Amino acid sequence: MLNIKENISLKPFNTFGIEAYGTYFVEINSIDDFLLLLKTDIYINNLKLIIGGGSNILFTKDFNGLVIKNNLKGIELINETTDEVIIKAAAGENWHEFVQWSIKNNFCGLENLSLIPGCVGASPMQNIGAYGVEIKDVFYELEAIHTITGEKKTFKKDDCAFGYRESVFKTKYKNQFLITSVSFKLSKHQNLNTSYGAINTELEAMGINKPTVKDVSKAVINIRQSKLPDPKITGNAGSFFKNAEVSKEKYESLKSQFEEIVSYSLPNGNFKLAAGWLIEQCGLKGFEKNGAAVHAKQALVLINKNNCTGTAVFELSDYVLQKVFDKFGVILEREVNII
Ligand code: FAD
Ligand code: EPU
Repeated sequence: MLNIKENISLKPFNTFGIEAYGTYFVEINSIDDFLLLLKTDIYINNLKLIIGGGSNILFTKDFNGLVIKNNLKGIELINETTDEVIIKAAAGENWHEFVQWSIKNNFCGLENLSLIPGCVGASPMQNIGAYGVEIKDVFYELEAIHTITGEKKTFKKDDCAFGYRESVFKTKYKNQFLITSVSFKLSKHQNLNTSYGAINTELEAMGINKPTVKDVSKAVINIRQSKLPDPKITGNAGSFFKNAEVSKEKYESLKSQFEEIVSYSLPNGNFKLAAGWLIEQCGLKGFEKNGAAVHAKQALVLINKNNCTGTAVFELSDYVLQKVFDKFGVILEREVNII
């Protein structure tokens, strides 16, 4: 049964905790719900915004259209060999709960992605990543429905053009598909990835020298909780900007001026710069304006410190962009979806 509501506050539906109103709002609990919705006048005649957990969205104004909250549920084992399983999770499943489910079943591959907020359906949108793993590393396929024709389509990994915080769903197919499920290929063996330095340090601090999949998850959770704000307490959407990619020449010129610059070399010869470091060097850690602030423990994260507006967060992000450009000549790119 479709229940299209009118003039709904979107504050509970975005982790920034920003007040904004949606002209129409509907939750879909089945694929049939969505196919039914496609035929309604409200759907046909309005702008649409699909949301999961609202943890990568900044509302800078009311949304004059139809907000569709994806609530599709279910986790299914669809294939199993001696070494691997394919697990299909519906788009509305909570990401972290799904990761914990896979760990409980001793399936390996998602543990480094513990505690990322949001839903499974959004995970391919920006190819979520953390602590040395991106979902492209374990992605098998996804199912989606075209938002105009209602046609069902399966996307294999090669169809998704996954990159750093990128996919085809943010570019060529922007707003064209509702993702209904994502399938992952997980290992039945303990193929752990602890290459990200902080994980090993944390495991050591936990007194663990032969980690299990559960230990790695716990280490990642501990690291995250030590620096990232909990959206239930402080509104935020994780990293507001992407780390910046620069050419070798630009990197070398910066390195000669700023010896301590935090960087990683990339396979294409370019360098990735830790944007959090750039922002911190501009003296902006903890900087606050109109209730929006740069998080004091992680400068890449902007927070709703004091019941601010989305515009205040956006203006702060402009200010940060300008300061980083003035000091380093590096243009940061926003990671969060601005509405
Ligand atoms: P939403 O914010 O609801 O939507 C994000 C985008 O996806 C929107 O454009 C929306 O239209 C679209 N979308 C959502 N669901 C669907 C669907 N079913 N079909 C089609 N389009 C859809 N991200 C990382 O990559 N790594 C991290 O380590 C990380 N850490 C974070 C930490 C914190 C504290 C927070 C608040 C956020 C963090 N994020 C991180 C960002 C965010 O959690 C992820 O991007 C997450 O995948 C967003 O999921 P969501 O369901 O909340 O998406
Ligand atoms: N740093 C600083 N000051 C800061 C923040 C970072 O100097 O205020 C430096 C530190 O040297 C640190 C390095 O930057 O060692 C990297 O910091 P961190 O490990 O916290 O990771 P990040 O590059 O800031 C990225 C992702 C996160 C992800 C973590 C862990 C992006 C945009 N962000 O952050 O993802 O959880 O790595 O892998 O790539 C998100 O996308 O929302 C997100 C939180």
